[in-house]
Amino acid sequence: MKRNRIKELLKSDATGSEVRVMGWVRTKRQSKNVAFIALNDGSTINNVQIVVDFAKIQEDLLQKIHTGASLSVTGELIESQGSGQKVEVLAKEIIILGEADPDEYPLQPKRHSLEFLREIAHLRFRTNTFSAINRIRHQMIFAIHRFFTEKGFVNIHTPIITASDAEGAGEMFRVTTLDPKNPPLTETGEVDWKADFFGRKTNLTVSGQLEGELAAMGLGEIYTFGPTFRAENSNTSRHLAEFWMIEPEMAFYDIHDNMDLAEEMLKYVIRYILENADDDLSFLSQRLIFEEKGLPQDKRSPFELKEKLRFVLENDFARITYTEAFDILRNSKMNKKKRFQFPVQEWGFDMQSEHERYLVEKHFKKPVIVTDYPKDIKSFYMKLNEDGKTVRAMDILFPQIGEIVGGSQREENLELLIRRMDEMGVPKEEMWWYLDTRKFGSVPHSGFGLGFERLMLFVTGMKNIRDVIAFPRTPKNAEF
Ligand code: 4AD
Ligand code: MG
Repeated sequence: MKRNRIKELLKSDATGSEVRVMGWVRTKRQSKNVAFIALNDGSTINNVQIVVDFAKIQEDLLQKIHTGASLSVTGELIESQGSGQKVEVLAKEIIILGEADPDEYPLQPKRHSLEFLREIAHLRFRTNTFSAINRIRHQMIFAIHRFFTEKGFVNIHTPIITASDAEGAGEMFRVTTLDPKNPPLTETGEVDWKADFFGRKTNLTVSGQLEGELAAMGLGEIYTFGPTFRAENSNTSRHLAEFWMIEPEMAFYDIHDNMDLAEEMLKYVIRYILENADDDLSFLSQRLIFEEKGLPQDKRSPFELKEKLRFVLENDFARITYTEAFDILRNSKMNKKKRFQFPVQEWGFDMQSEHERYLVEKHFKKPVIVTDYPKDIKSFYMKLNEDGKTVRAMDILFPQIGEIVGGSQREENLELLIRRMDEMGVPKEEMWWYLDTRKFGSVPHSGFGLGFERLMLFVTGMKNIRDVIAFPRTPKNAEF
Protein backbone atom coordinates (compact mmCIF):
# COMPACT_ATOMS: atom_id res chain seq x y z
CA MET A 1 0.00 0.00 0.00
CA LYS A 2 1.20 3.48 -0.92
CA ARG A 3 2.32 5.90 1.76
CA ASN A 4 0.25 9.03 2.30
CA ARG A 5 2.21 12.18 3.06
CA ILE A 6 0.85 13.83 6.17
CA LYS A 7 0.61 17.24 4.52
CA GLU A 8 -1.82 16.00 1.88
CA LEU A 9 -3.58 13.65 4.25
CA LEU A 10 -4.54 16.43 6.64
CA LYS A 11 -6.35 18.20 3.80
CA SER A 12 -8.16 15.08 2.65
CA ASP A 13 -11.95 14.64 2.83
CA ALA A 14 -11.75 10.90 2.16
CA THR A 15 -12.87 9.78 5.60
CA GLY A 16 -13.64 6.08 5.74
CA SER A 17 -10.78 5.18 3.41
CA GLU A 18 -7.73 3.18 4.36
CA VAL A 19 -4.47 5.13 4.60
CA ARG A 20 -0.86 4.54 5.53
CA VAL A 21 1.40 7.14 7.15
CA MET A 22 5.01 6.91 8.20
CA GLY A 23 6.83 9.32 10.44
CA TRP A 24 8.43 10.06 13.78
CA VAL A 25 6.60 10.16 17.08
CA ARG A 26 6.41 13.61 18.58
CA THR A 27 4.27 12.77 21.61
CA LYS A 28 2.29 9.92 23.04
CA ARG A 29 -0.63 10.31 25.43
CA GLN A 30 -2.22 7.33 27.01
CA SER A 31 -5.39 6.71 28.95
CA LYS A 32 -7.16 3.56 29.98
CA ASN A 33 -8.48 2.18 26.72
CA VAL A 34 -6.96 4.42 24.17
CA ALA A 35 -3.72 6.24 23.31
CA PHE A 36 -2.96 9.18 21.01
CA ILE A 37 0.25 9.49 19.05
CA ALA A 38 1.25 12.70 17.28
CA LEU A 39 3.16 11.66 14.18
CA ASN A 40 5.19 13.95 11.92
CA ASP A 41 6.86 13.10 8.62
CA GLY A 42 8.49 16.46 7.84
CA SER A 43 6.10 17.31 5.00
CA THR A 44 4.35 19.91 7.18
CA ILE A 45 4.62 21.59 10.55
CA ASN A 46 1.38 19.81 11.53
CA ASN A 47 1.22 16.35 13.06
CA VAL A 48 -1.37 13.75 12.31
CA GLN A 49 -3.04 12.24 15.33
CA ILE A 50 -2.99 8.45 15.48
CA VAL A 51 -5.76 7.00 17.61
CA VAL A 52 -4.77 3.70 19.19
CA ASP A 53 -7.64 1.65 20.48
CA PHE A 54 -6.42 -1.18 22.72
CA ALA A 55 -9.15 -3.40 21.36
CA LYS A 56 -7.35 -3.24 17.99
CA ILE A 57 -3.69 -2.75 18.87
CA GLN A 58 -1.85 -4.66 21.54
CA GLU A 59 -0.93 -2.57 24.49
CA ASP A 60 2.57 -4.05 24.86
CA LEU A 61 3.48 -2.79 21.39
CA LEU A 62 2.53 0.66 22.57
CA GLN A 63 4.93 0.43 25.48
CA LYS A 64 7.82 0.32 23.00
CA ILE A 65 6.74 3.52 21.28
CA HIS A 66 8.38 6.68 22.58
CA THR A 67 9.14 10.16 21.35
CA GLY A 68 11.55 9.89 18.43
CA ALA A 69 10.59 6.39 17.33
CA SER A 70 9.65 5.90 13.70
CA LEU A 71 6.40 4.18 12.76
CA SER A 72 4.45 2.91 9.84
CA VAL A 73 0.74 3.13 10.60
CA THR A 74 -2.10 1.70 8.56
CA GLY A 75 -5.60 2.58 9.51
CA GLU A 76 -8.84 4.33 8.73
CA LEU A 77 -9.03 8.06 8.07
CA ILE A 78 -11.68 9.38 10.42
CA GLU A 79 -13.12 12.74 11.26
CA SER A 80 -11.24 14.27 14.15
CA GLN A 81 -13.03 14.37 17.47
CA GLY A 82 -10.83 16.98 19.04
CA SER A 83 -10.15 20.47 17.79
CA GLY A 84 -7.29 21.49 15.53
CA GLN A 85 -7.20 18.96 12.74
CA LYS A 86 -9.97 17.94 10.39
CA VAL A 87 -8.97 14.27 10.30
CA GLU A 88 -7.04 11.66 12.21
CA VAL A 89 -6.06 8.03 11.72
CA LEU A 90 -7.65 5.18 13.64
CA ALA A 91 -4.83 2.63 13.70
CA LYS A 92 -5.36 -0.93 12.45
CA GLU A 93 -1.74 -1.90 12.28
CA ILE A 94 1.37 -0.25 13.69
CA ILE A 95 4.87 -1.32 12.71
CA ILE A 96 7.78 0.13 14.64
CA LEU A 97 10.41 0.99 12.02
CA GLY A 98 12.98 2.18 14.53
CA GLU A 99 12.79 2.47 18.29
CA ALA A 100 14.19 5.41 20.26
CA ASP A 101 15.30 4.72 23.81
CA PRO A 102 13.74 7.46 25.96
CA ASP A 103 16.70 7.39 28.33
CA GLU A 104 19.08 8.24 25.51
CA TYR A 105 17.12 10.19 22.91
CA PRO A 106 18.00 13.85 23.50
CA LEU A 107 14.86 15.44 22.04
CA GLN A 108 12.00 15.41 24.48
CA PRO A 109 8.58 16.93 23.94
CA LYS A 110 9.48 20.23 25.58
CA ARG A 111 11.22 23.43 24.63
CA HIS A 112 14.95 22.99 24.05
CA SER A 113 17.28 25.96 23.82
CA LEU A 114 18.66 26.85 20.39
CA GLU A 115 22.17 26.50 21.81
CA PHE A 116 21.45 22.93 22.88
CA LEU A 117 19.92 22.12 19.50
CA ARG A 118 23.07 23.37 17.76
CA GLU A 119 24.98 20.68 19.64
CA ILE A 120 22.66 18.05 18.21
CA ALA A 121 22.39 19.50 14.72
CA HIS A 122 22.08 15.96 13.36
CA LEU A 123 18.71 15.61 15.11
CA ARG A 124 17.34 19.12 15.07
CA PHE A 125 15.57 18.56 11.73
CA ARG A 126 13.04 16.69 13.83
CA THR A 127 11.97 19.79 15.71
CA ASN A 128 9.19 22.13 14.62
CA THR A 129 11.52 25.09 14.46
CA PHE A 130 14.16 23.53 12.23
CA SER A 131 11.80 21.70 9.96
CA ALA A 132 9.93 24.98 9.40
CA ILE A 133 13.16 26.87 8.74
CA ASN A 134 14.44 24.29 6.29
CA ARG A 135 11.17 24.10 4.39
CA ILE A 136 11.18 27.88 4.11
CA ARG A 137 14.81 27.82 3.03
CA HIS A 138 13.89 25.51 0.19
CA GLN A 139 10.98 27.70 -0.88
CA MET A 140 13.24 30.74 -0.90
CA ILE A 141 15.82 28.98 -3.08
CA PHE A 142 13.05 28.06 -5.47
CA ALA A 143 11.66 31.61 -5.50
CA ILE A 144 15.09 33.04 -6.28
CA HIS A 145 15.62 30.73 -9.22
CA ARG A 146 12.09 31.45 -10.41
CA PHE A 147 12.59 35.20 -10.20
CA PHE A 148 15.72 35.13 -12.33
CA THR A 149 14.29 32.59 -14.74
CA GLU A 150 11.24 34.80 -15.32
CA LYS A 151 13.59 37.69 -16.02
CA GLY A 152 15.60 35.71 -18.55
CA PHE A 153 18.79 35.42 -16.50
CA VAL A 154 21.14 32.48 -17.03
CA ASN A 155 22.39 30.62 -13.96
CA ILE A 156 26.17 30.09 -13.98
CA HIS A 157 28.12 27.75 -11.74
CA THR A 158 31.26 29.65 -10.93
CA PRO A 159 34.22 27.71 -9.53
CA ILE A 160 34.52 26.86 -5.87
CA ILE A 161 38.28 26.45 -6.08
CA THR A 162 39.97 29.57 -7.42
CA ALA A 163 43.35 31.25 -7.51
CA SER A 164 41.97 34.76 -7.05
CA ASP A 165 40.78 36.76 -4.07
CA ALA A 166 37.76 38.52 -5.52
CA GLU A 167 37.15 40.85 -2.63
CA GLY A 168 40.83 41.56 -2.00
CA ALA A 169 40.22 41.06 1.70
CA GLY A 170 42.58 38.09 1.97
CA GLU A 171 40.28 36.01 4.17
CA MET A 172 40.67 32.76 2.32
CA PHE A 173 40.85 29.05 3.04
CA ARG A 174 43.82 27.46 1.31
CA VAL A 175 43.18 24.40 -0.87
CA THR A 176 46.19 22.15 -1.13
CA THR A 177 47.25 18.52 -1.40
CA LEU A 178 50.76 19.20 -0.13
CA ASP A 179 51.88 17.43 3.03
CA PRO A 180 51.90 20.11 5.76
CA LYS A 181 54.72 18.33 7.59
CA ASN A 182 56.93 17.93 4.60
CA PRO A 183 56.07 20.35 1.78
CA PRO A 184 58.32 20.63 -1.27
CA LEU A 185 60.54 23.68 -0.97
CA THR A 186 62.05 26.10 -3.47
CA GLU A 187 65.77 26.84 -3.56
CA THR A 188 65.18 29.73 -1.18
CA GLY A 189 63.39 27.52 1.32
CA GLU A 190 59.80 28.60 0.73
CA VAL A 191 56.88 26.27 0.05
CA ASP A 192 56.95 25.42 -3.64
CA TRP A 193 53.33 25.98 -4.67
CA LYS A 194 54.23 25.05 -8.24
CA ALA A 195 54.42 21.49 -6.97
CA ASP A 196 50.88 21.68 -5.57
CA PHE A 197 47.88 20.03 -7.26
CA PHE A 198 46.98 22.98 -9.50
CA GLY A 199 50.54 24.13 -9.96
CA ARG A 200 49.79 27.30 -8.00
CA LYS A 201 48.29 28.60 -4.77
CA THR A 202 44.55 28.02 -4.66
CA ASN A 203 41.77 28.76 -2.22
CA LEU A 204 38.03 28.36 -1.70
CA THR A 205 36.16 31.17 -3.40
CA VAL A 206 35.02 34.23 -1.42
CA SER A 207 32.69 35.31 -4.26
CA GLY A 208 31.69 34.19 -7.74
CA GLN A 209 31.58 37.77 -8.99
CA LEU A 210 34.71 37.96 -11.13
CA GLU A 211 33.79 34.86 -13.10
CA GLY A 212 30.18 36.06 -13.14
CA GLU A 213 31.34 39.24 -14.86
CA LEU A 214 33.06 37.17 -17.56
CA ALA A 215 29.81 35.33 -18.23
CA ALA A 216 27.73 38.54 -18.28
CA MET A 217 30.08 39.89 -20.94
CA GLY A 218 28.61 37.41 -23.39
CA LEU A 219 25.31 36.24 -21.96
CA GLY A 220 24.09 39.66 -20.85
CA GLU A 221 22.29 38.79 -17.63
CA ILE A 222 23.50 35.98 -15.40
CA TYR A 223 23.39 34.99 -11.75
CA THR A 224 25.29 32.62 -9.53
CA PHE A 225 23.95 30.93 -6.40
CA GLY A 226 26.70 29.09 -4.70
CA PRO A 227 28.65 28.50 -1.52
CA THR A 228 31.27 31.07 -0.56
CA PHE A 229 33.93 30.79 2.09
CA ARG A 230 35.48 33.39 4.34
CA ALA A 231 38.10 32.73 6.94
CA GLU A 232 37.27 35.86 8.90
CA ASN A 233 37.53 35.13 12.56
CA SER A 234 34.32 36.89 13.47
CA ASN A 235 32.19 34.98 15.90
CA THR A 236 29.04 37.03 15.45
CA SER A 237 25.39 36.11 15.00
CA ARG A 238 25.59 37.29 11.36
CA HIS A 239 28.79 35.66 10.07
CA LEU A 240 29.45 32.18 8.77
CA ALA A 241 32.70 30.79 7.40
CA GLU A 242 30.65 29.00 4.73
CA PHE A 243 27.59 30.78 3.42
CA TRP A 244 25.52 30.91 0.26
CA MET A 245 25.44 33.94 -1.95
CA ILE A 246 23.27 34.98 -4.88
CA GLU A 247 25.25 37.11 -7.30
CA PRO A 248 23.55 38.53 -10.38
CA GLU A 249 25.72 40.35 -12.90
CA MET A 250 24.19 42.39 -15.71
CA ALA A 251 25.67 43.96 -18.81
CA PHE A 252 24.29 47.42 -19.68
CA TYR A 253 22.95 48.04 -16.13
CA ASP A 254 23.98 51.16 -14.27
CA ILE A 255 23.83 51.55 -10.49
CA HIS A 256 20.17 52.60 -10.58
CA ASP A 257 19.12 49.60 -12.64
CA ASN A 258 21.11 47.53 -10.16
CA MET A 259 19.24 48.94 -7.16
CA ASP A 260 15.89 48.49 -8.89
CA LEU A 261 16.67 44.84 -9.58
CA ALA A 262 17.81 44.13 -6.03
CA GLU A 263 14.73 45.75 -4.51
CA GLU A 264 12.43 43.95 -6.93
CA MET A 265 14.08 40.63 -6.18
CA LEU A 266 13.89 40.98 -2.40
CA LYS A 267 10.21 41.90 -2.64
CA TYR A 268 9.49 39.03 -5.03
CA VAL A 269 11.00 36.45 -2.70
CA ILE A 270 9.32 37.85 0.39
CA ARG A 271 5.95 37.93 -1.40
CA TYR A 272 6.48 34.35 -2.54
CA ILE A 273 7.12 33.19 1.01
CA LEU A 274 4.09 35.03 2.37
CA GLU A 275 1.93 33.37 -0.27
CA ASN A 276 3.40 29.88 -0.06
CA ALA A 277 4.63 29.17 3.44
CA ASP A 278 1.86 30.37 5.70
CA ASP A 279 1.86 27.40 8.09
CA ASP A 280 5.58 27.59 8.71
CA LEU A 281 5.65 31.39 8.94
CA SER A 282 2.76 31.36 11.41
CA PHE A 283 4.61 28.85 13.52
CA LEU A 284 7.81 30.94 13.48
CA SER A 285 5.82 34.04 14.29
CA GLN A 286 4.39 32.37 17.42
CA ARG A 287 7.86 31.11 18.32
CA LEU A 288 9.26 34.62 18.15
CA ILE A 289 6.48 36.08 20.28
CA PHE A 290 7.06 33.39 22.89
CA GLU A 291 10.82 33.88 22.84
CA GLU A 292 10.54 37.63 23.30
CA LYS A 293 7.88 37.48 26.02
CA GLY A 294 10.23 38.16 28.89
CA LEU A 295 12.17 40.92 27.15
CA PRO A 296 11.70 44.64 27.80
CA GLN A 297 9.65 46.43 25.12
CA ASP A 298 12.63 48.02 23.39
CA LYS A 299 14.34 44.66 22.95
CA ARG A 300 11.30 43.09 21.31
CA SER A 301 10.64 43.04 17.56
CA PRO A 302 8.50 46.06 16.69
CA PHE A 303 6.40 43.97 14.28
CA GLU A 304 4.86 40.55 14.22
CA LEU A 305 6.82 38.44 11.72
CA LYS A 306 4.38 38.42 8.81
CA GLU A 307 3.49 42.05 9.40
CA LYS A 308 7.19 42.87 9.13
CA LEU A 309 7.44 41.02 5.82
CA ARG A 310 4.35 42.79 4.46
CA PHE A 311 5.80 46.11 5.55
CA VAL A 312 8.83 45.52 3.32
CA LEU A 313 6.56 44.83 0.36
CA GLU A 314 4.50 47.95 0.89
CA ASN A 315 7.31 50.48 1.18
CA ASP A 316 9.93 51.77 -1.22
CA PHE A 317 13.42 51.34 0.15
CA ALA A 318 15.04 54.63 1.16
CA ARG A 319 17.96 55.54 -1.12
CA ILE A 320 20.71 57.78 0.21
CA THR A 321 24.38 58.40 -0.43
CA TYR A 322 27.10 57.52 2.04
CA THR A 323 27.67 61.24 2.62
CA GLU A 324 24.01 61.74 3.53
CA ALA A 325 24.17 58.72 5.82
CA PHE A 326 27.29 60.11 7.42
CA ASP A 327 25.57 63.43 8.14
CA ILE A 328 22.54 61.72 9.64
CA LEU A 329 24.73 59.57 11.87
CA ARG A 330 27.10 62.32 12.93
CA ASN A 331 24.24 64.63 13.89
CA SER A 332 22.21 61.92 15.60
CA LYS A 333 21.45 62.08 19.32
CA MET A 334 23.02 58.65 19.62
CA ASN A 335 26.31 60.01 18.38
CA LYS A 336 26.17 63.26 20.33
CA LYS A 337 25.45 61.37 23.53
CA LYS A 338 28.32 59.04 22.67
CA ARG A 339 26.11 56.00 22.65
CA PHE A 340 27.67 54.38 19.60
CA GLN A 341 30.46 51.99 20.42
CA PHE A 342 32.27 53.45 17.41
CA PRO A 343 31.72 57.23 17.40
CA VAL A 344 31.01 58.83 14.02
CA GLN A 345 33.61 61.51 13.49
CA GLU A 346 35.26 61.61 10.13
CA TRP A 347 33.97 61.19 6.62
CA GLY A 348 35.50 58.02 5.28
CA PHE A 349 34.84 55.81 8.30
CA ASP A 350 33.56 52.32 7.66
CA MET A 351 30.00 51.95 8.93
CA GLN A 352 29.58 49.31 11.62
CA SER A 353 26.46 47.29 12.05
CA GLU A 354 25.28 49.55 14.92
CA HIS A 355 25.30 52.49 12.47
CA GLU A 356 23.56 50.53 9.74
CA ARG A 357 20.89 49.46 12.16
CA TYR A 358 20.43 53.00 13.46
CA LEU A 359 19.73 54.23 9.93
CA VAL A 360 17.25 51.46 9.25
CA GLU A 361 15.54 50.95 12.59
CA LYS A 362 15.60 54.42 14.13
CA HIS A 363 15.91 56.94 11.34
CA PHE A 364 14.18 55.66 8.20
CA LYS A 365 12.28 52.79 9.80
CA LYS A 366 12.47 50.79 6.57
CA PRO A 367 15.15 49.16 4.38
CA VAL A 368 17.79 51.59 3.16
CA ILE A 369 20.10 51.52 0.15
CA VAL A 370 23.33 53.43 0.70
CA THR A 371 25.33 54.39 -2.40
CA ASP A 372 28.55 56.19 -3.31
CA TYR A 373 30.86 55.02 -0.56
CA PRO A 374 34.42 56.33 -0.12
CA LYS A 375 36.64 54.39 -2.49
CA ASP A 376 39.14 53.46 0.21
CA ILE A 377 36.72 51.23 2.08
CA LYS A 378 35.44 49.38 -0.99
CA SER A 379 36.80 46.85 -3.51
CA PHE A 380 38.99 47.69 -6.51
CA TYR A 381 36.38 46.77 -9.12
CA MET A 382 33.82 49.43 -8.21
CA LYS A 383 33.34 52.27 -10.67
CA LEU A 384 34.93 55.52 -9.64
CA ASN A 385 32.65 58.58 -9.51
CA GLU A 386 33.57 61.91 -11.13
CA ASP A 387 34.53 63.31 -7.72
CA GLY A 388 37.48 60.88 -7.66
CA LYS A 389 36.67 60.11 -4.00
CA THR A 390 33.66 57.86 -4.06
CA VAL A 391 32.68 54.72 -5.92
CA ARG A 392 29.35 53.60 -7.35
CA ALA A 393 28.74 51.07 -4.59
CA MET A 394 25.38 50.15 -3.15
CA ASP A 395 24.70 48.32 0.10
CA ILE A 396 21.21 47.37 1.17
CA LEU A 397 20.60 47.55 4.90
CA PHE A 398 17.78 45.66 6.60
CA PRO A 399 16.30 45.91 10.07
CA GLN A 400 17.92 43.57 12.63
CA ILE A 401 20.46 42.45 10.05
CA GLY A 402 22.35 45.48 8.81
CA GLU A 403 24.00 44.76 5.45
CA ILE A 404 22.13 42.13 3.47
CA VAL A 405 23.29 43.07 -0.06
CA GLY A 406 26.59 44.48 -1.28
CA GLY A 407 27.01 45.50 -4.88
CA SER A 408 28.12 48.14 -7.34
CA GLN A 409 28.44 49.34 -10.86
CA ARG A 410 31.75 47.97 -12.10
CA GLU A 411 34.70 49.92 -13.45
CA GLU A 412 34.56 49.18 -17.17
CA ASN A 413 37.37 51.56 -18.16
CA LEU A 414 40.61 49.59 -18.54
CA GLU A 415 42.96 52.40 -17.55
CA LEU A 416 41.00 53.43 -14.48
CA LEU A 417 40.65 49.80 -13.42
CA ILE A 418 44.40 49.22 -13.70
CA ARG A 419 45.05 52.37 -11.70
CA ARG A 420 42.73 51.14 -8.92
CA MET A 421 44.37 47.72 -8.91
CA ASP A 422 47.79 49.32 -8.57
CA GLU A 423 46.61 51.60 -5.77
CA MET A 424 45.14 48.69 -3.87
CA GLY A 425 47.90 46.19 -4.57
CA VAL A 426 45.73 43.77 -6.55
CA PRO A 427 47.93 41.52 -8.74
CA LYS A 428 47.23 42.37 -12.40
CA GLU A 429 49.26 39.64 -14.07
CA GLU A 430 47.23 36.85 -12.48
CA MET A 431 44.00 38.55 -13.50
CA TRP A 432 44.77 39.06 -17.18
CA TRP A 433 41.50 37.32 -18.04
CA TYR A 434 39.49 39.82 -15.98
CA LEU A 435 41.24 42.74 -17.65
CA ASP A 436 40.55 41.23 -21.08
CA THR A 437 36.84 41.96 -20.64
CA ARG A 438 37.73 45.65 -20.41
CA LYS A 439 40.07 45.36 -23.39
CA PHE A 440 37.58 43.75 -25.75
CA GLY A 441 34.05 45.07 -26.08
CA SER A 442 33.83 46.54 -22.60
CA VAL A 443 30.38 47.74 -21.52
CA PRO A 444 28.91 49.42 -18.46
CA HIS A 445 27.73 46.69 -16.11
CA SER A 446 26.65 46.10 -12.53
CA GLY A 447 25.90 43.39 -10.05
CA PHE A 448 25.42 42.58 -6.40
CA GLY A 449 25.72 39.82 -3.84
CA LEU A 450 22.87 38.84 -1.55
CA GLY A 451 23.85 36.87 1.54
CA PHE A 452 21.29 34.07 1.54
CA GLU A 453 21.50 33.28 5.26
CA ARG A 454 21.13 36.95 6.15
CA LEU A 455 17.92 36.97 4.12
CA MET A 456 16.87 33.78 5.91
CA LEU A 457 17.40 35.52 9.27
CA PHE A 458 15.10 38.30 8.19
CA VAL A 459 12.37 36.05 6.84
CA THR A 460 12.32 33.57 9.72
CA GLY A 461 12.83 36.06 12.56
CA MET A 462 15.67 33.92 13.88
CA LYS A 463 18.45 35.82 15.60
CA ASN A 464 21.51 33.66 15.04
CA ILE A 465 22.79 32.79 11.57
CA ARG A 466 23.82 29.35 12.89
CA ASP A 467 20.13 28.48 13.07
CA VAL A 468 19.17 29.17 9.46
CA ILE A 469 21.65 26.82 7.77
CA ALA A 470 21.57 23.08 8.41
CA PHE A 471 25.23 22.63 9.29
CA PRO A 472 26.86 25.94 10.21
CA ARG A 473 30.57 26.43 9.75
CA THR A 474 32.03 28.92 12.20
CA PRO A 475 35.42 29.31 13.91
CA LYS A 476 36.22 26.09 15.82
CA ASN A 477 33.03 24.43 14.68
CA ALA A 478 32.71 21.86 11.90
CA GLU A 479 31.28 18.93 13.79
CA PHE A 480 28.57 17.61 11.52
O1 4AD B 1 29.56 42.64 0.47
P1 4AD B 1 30.18 41.37 0.02
O2 4AD B 1 31.51 41.01 0.54
O3 4AD B 1 30.19 41.46 -1.58
C1 4AD B 1 30.74 40.59 -2.44
O4 4AD B 1 31.23 39.51 -2.16
C2 4AD B 1 30.58 41.02 -3.87
N1 4AD B 1 31.52 40.26 -4.68
C3 4AD B 1 29.16 40.80 -4.30
C4 4AD B 1 28.90 41.22 -5.72
O5 4AD B 1 28.88 42.40 -6.00
N2 4AD B 1 28.71 40.27 -6.60
O6 4AD B 1 29.18 40.17 0.35
C5 4AD B 1 27.85 40.17 -0.15
C6 4AD B 1 26.87 39.78 0.92
C7 4AD B 1 26.86 40.68 2.14
O7 4AD B 1 26.07 41.81 1.92
C8 4AD B 1 26.27 39.77 3.21
O8 4AD B 1 24.86 39.71 3.09
C9 4AD B 1 26.82 38.42 2.81
O9 4AD B 1 27.22 38.50 1.46
N3 4AD B 1 27.99 38.05 3.63
C10 4AD B 1 27.96 37.11 4.60
N4 4AD B 1 26.97 36.32 5.06
C11 4AD B 1 27.27 35.45 6.04
N5 4AD B 1 28.50 35.31 6.58
C12 4AD B 1 29.54 36.07 6.14
N6 4AD B 1 30.75 35.90 6.66
C13 4AD B 1 29.29 37.03 5.11
N7 4AD B 1 30.06 37.91 4.45
C14 4AD B 1 29.24 38.52 3.55
MG1 MG C 1 29.87 44.21 1.77
